[in-house]
Amino acid sequence: MGAEIPAAVIEILRDAKNVLVLTGSGVSAESDVPTFREAQSGLWSEFDPQELATPEAFLQDPVLVWRWYRWRRKLVAEAEPNPEHFALAALEDQVPEMTLITQNVDGLHQRAGSQHVTEFHGNLFATRCFVEDTLEDDDPSSADPRCRRCGGHLRPGVVWFGEAIPKLALKVATEAADDCDVFLSIGTSSLVWPAAGFAAAAAQRGATVIEINIDPTPLSSRCDFALQGASGELLPELVRRLAI
Ligand code: OAD
Repeated sequence: MGAEIPAAVIEILRDAKNVLVLTGSGVSAESDVPTFREAQSGLWSEFDPQELATPEAFLQDPVLVWRWYRWRRKLVAEAEPNPEHFALAALEDQVPEMTLITQNVDGLHQRAGSQHVTEFHGNLFATRCFVEDTLEDDDPSSADPRCRRCGGHLRPGVVWFGEAIPKLALKVATEAADDCDVFLSIGTSSLVWPAAGFAAAAAQRGATVIEINIDPTPLSSRCDFALQGASGELLPELVRRLAI
């Protein structure tokens, strides 16, 4: 099925002064990075990511959690940005102001050339000290790497369930939701808070909320335009029509 974007959506984006884009793992699906809720593929099929991605799970079995993250790091290092990532990098030049907030930890937006990316859930390739929360170098030779200074566990630099969003990311996203006149929610299930709350905050202030998702989500019935389809089709089409 061809991508279909209502002319009204193109007009709204043409007139937009400040666009907030929130992406989720759906935009990386075509790069063969499994979406979060599908991440139990292959070797990891018996594990539930919601049970591995918590500080409690990590402290209980850091070796297991590190094995899972190193598997994901390898998978993402071998992945390439896809047309969705490139389309969003191009959109930055088509609107006066754009903030890209991503829940993805894979760095593919940056690799596609997006200049202003805020990582809401951290980065898969970052490593932090569990105790001091400082950025550290990983020691990939160790199954349970330790901080050189304090001896505490090193951990992947991502946000886990139950953890706070990095302060700066939260500030950027809150301000952007306050300032935007168009909110684009792309490839996210709109289930995980606080990211899922920004669309409603923007709508309340009068911003137009547009969703692109292959399936309906809790946001679909509450937004101005719910475009149901693959972002790999819809985003390049959107950027192409905006350029005409
Ligand atoms: P999910 O795995 O919850 O949802 C992925 C969404 O992408 C679903 O709504 C799919 O329908 C949609 N999707 C899949 N393929 C698509 C495609 N080709 N085109 C368009 N949409 C597509 O992932 P997120 O919403 O990113 O948080 O999950 C949000 C957060 O939940 C993650 O960052 C992670 C997880 O808990 C933390 O780790 C804290």
